[in-house]
Amino acid sequence: MEKLTKEEAEQVSRLLGGRSTLGEGLQLYNALIGRGIAFPLEWEEKVLELCIAEDPERGDILQRYRHVLMSLGKPVPAGIESRCAAFAKKSEYGTDHQQAAAQYHQRTGLSDTESEFRELAERMRPFTMTSFERMYALFKAVEFIEAAKISGDIVECGVWRGGSMMLVAHLLVKLRRTSRSLYLFDTYEGLPRPDESKDVDIWGNRAIDGWRPRRTGDESSYWANASLDEVRANMLTTGYPPERLHFVKGMVEDTIPESAPGQIALLRLDTDWYESTRHEMQHLFPRLSLNGVLIIDDYGHFAGARRAVDEYVAEHALPLLLHRIDYSGRMAIKIARA
Ligand SMILES: C[S@@+](CC[C@H](N)C(=O)[O-])C[C@H]1O[C@@H](n2cnc3c(N)ncnc32)[C@H](O)[C@@H]1O
Repeated sequence: MEKLTKEEAEQVSRLLGGRSTLGEGLQLYNALIGRGIAFPLEWEEKVLELCIAEDPERGDILQRYRHVLMSLGKPVPAGIESRCAAFAKKSEYGTDHQQAAAQYHQRTGLSDTESEFRELAERMRPFTMTSFERMYALFKAVEFIEAAKISGDIVECGVWRGGSMMLVAHLLVKLRRTSRSLYLFDTYEGLPRPDESKDVDIWGNRAIDGWRPRRTGDESSYWANASLDEVRANMLTTGYPPERLHFVKGMVEDTIPESAPGQIALLRLDTDWYESTRHEMQHLFPRLSLNGVLIIDDYGHFAGARRAVDEYVAEHALPLLLHRIDYSGRMAIKIARA
């Protein structure tokens, strides 16, 4: 450690003898800290006393002084204690806790989730369009239907490359619960024509304007397009029994209800548009077991998907707690028959 200069040594003795000004004390502090020389707590105590004499209401200084006294094992005067408490309360009231929580959320990332989930989610990234929050909701929903022994198969409408159902399959294989059938409904030819007025995204963009340039037919496009062969190959990598994988190709408006299972434990709707979501709710929600889980991927993102769900809920006076997974995804447990 570097040694003090003669002048600094004199400044220290003036500080400890109570003969220093605040300016001198701070200059000494800055000089030593700047050269990486530790500034002992006993010296800091004196500098802080000079600061407090100058401005007795500086909350951060009072708190530091209290901390230093406590670290030195010295009693904290009652006046300092009460002013520190008042400052802490004021600064807590003055904090934007919602902004702080949003920052904590970002800083935390996925570190509050199970490591098996994090590993799985990382592997699924190229195969799904959903967010980590929606992947996690699905992960927990699968654990839930298994733990609660909810009868029925697992259905996803709108699978793209199959990532969400791959996550389901991987988890079930890991849990050694592979008796349910998994149903994957899709055109396997991309998104079909959206409704010109109903299918609008959260920012007001009409889906039709995004769909037209990618159109390949009235019921197909290059938007969210993955072939059945590709999705089947992806699903087979999970090790789930192939005989329990059902790939149903075509518009859900044509394939549902005929090709859908009679009882569903977990229903994930992700076909984006009003018409298909309405059709799925109408025909599949009644097949969802009591205490089964419903996940709507696009409730926040696309107005049509939201409208289809809201209409169905209102028409059937359904008690449905649509929990917000993230800005778009919603999840509910079915507690009453439609
Ligand atoms: C956003 S993607 C699905 C994303 C997927 N769930 C994931 O985890 O990444 C929407 C899918 O819905 C399919 N789709 C949309 N409307 C459909 C309809 N009426 N019938 C069948 N499939 C449809 C599209 O082909 C596309 O694969």
